Amino acid sequence: MIFITKKLEFCASHRLYNPEFSDEKNQATFGLCNNPNGHGHNYTLEVTVCGEVVEDTGMVLDLKALKGLVQNEVIDKVDHKNLNVDVSFLTGIIPTAENLAIKFWDLLEPRIQGGRLYQIKLFESDRNFVIYRGENCEGLD
Ligand code: NI
Repeated sequence: MIFITKKLEFCASHRLYNPEFSDEKNQATFGLCNNPNGHGHNYTLEVTVCGEVVEDTGMVLDLKALKGLVQNEVIDKVDHKNLNVDVSFLTGIIPTAENLAIKFWDLLEPRIQGGRLYQIKLFESDRNFVIYRGENCEGLD
């Protein structure tokens, strides 16, 4: 088993709030990310696939193909967008890094060719990131 990762970047804005919370509770819960007119992040997305090395190519999969998939299915849909209003697959969802990672997994997992999606790692900043390994990650560490 070997792990191969493609890293891509995108920029997007969001506002974190729950419409069912009071203004005070939203502010207490989300702090700066609750700014009424939103704010931006430079995100870094790392998509890791696990699989076996194919003997006649020496590769698990074609990284160009993986890049194209992530670009088409995720990056093109979120780059330079307002995540609260511009992205159909995020409608009704608080656009935290956690929720983005889960949605990105759901978009990519059925479409990975040659190998299996192992991990989504999403950096919202250099110091803040989340890792999602799906619901069936037991035994993969
Ligand atoms: Ni934020």
